[in-house]
Parts: sequence; C-alpha cells; structure tokens
Amino acid sequence: MPSFTADELLQQSRDVAERAYAPYSEFRVGAVVVDEHGMSYAGVNVENAAYGSGQCAEASAIGGAVSAGAGRIKAIAVSSPNAAPCWPCGNCRQILREFDVETVIVEGADGSALELPLGDLLPNSFGPEDLKGAGT
Ligand code: THU
Repeated sequence: MPSFTADELLQQSRDVAERAYAPYSEFRVGAVVVDEHGMSYAGVNVENAAYGSGQCAEASAIGGAVSAGAGRIKAIAVSSPNAAPCWPCGNCRQILREFDVETVIVEGADGSALELPLGDLLPNSFGPEDLKGAGT
C-alpha cells in the first residue's frame, strides 16, 4: 500500500498543479489528499467563465477522494507555482473540516514542507457534530 512523506505529497501537488484549468486568474493550484490507507488523490483548480462557478484545487482533490471511495482523509498538500506558501482559502478550510483532515502541508518560501494542524488554520470551527441538536 503506498504511503507518502510530506515532501512527496508536496511534490505530487506541484506536479498536478501543471494541469490546473486557470485561464482567468492564471493562478494554478494543485492539491493532494492522502487517506488512512496511504492512498493519494489529486485535484486542481477548475475555473469557469462564470467566475463564481470555479472550483478550488482542494475541493477537487476531496471530491476525487470521496468519489473513489477513499478512507478517512488524514492530510492535504497544497501548492502553486504562483505563490509559496499557498494557503487554503477559508471555504476550503471548511471543506477540510467536514472530513476531519488532521494536517495541512504547504510549501514554505524556501521550498520546504510546512505542516500545520487544520485546527490552527480554522480554530473554533463548526462541524458535523454541531448539527446534532437540530430537530429537537
Ligand atoms: N484557489 C485554489 O484552488 N485554492 C485555494 O485555496 C485558493 C485559491 C484558486 C481559485 C482560483 O482558481 C485561483 O486560485 C485564484 O483565486
């Protein structure tokens, strides 16, 4: 079963970023998630002429992982040839929160892998367990 280091996941995200569909912003982003079995799933940002219909790389990677039947998602690596670090946007942090992703890996200015707990990027967050009181 494959398993990857933070540097390897970051490299995978750099590689897939080349496939980003970003004709409007020209800001290419690649994301790679790894699940509990050590399997990785990649995604890129996919823009749209109706700008608001575009999708971030993190959302693409999560969608691919869920579609493929991945196990629990443990970590995500995000990178862009246009910015280091390339931090996940607020909406993507919430998407990662839904799946209890533990670790976010981004590329430091010197190219090294920076690892942070998602809780540092989205403290005091709202998640699935907060809906438990609904309908009572
Ligand atoms: N983008 C991502 O793919 N992920 C982020 O977390 C930040 C922004 C994309 C969206 C858009 O296609 C481009 O970067 C510029 O915002």
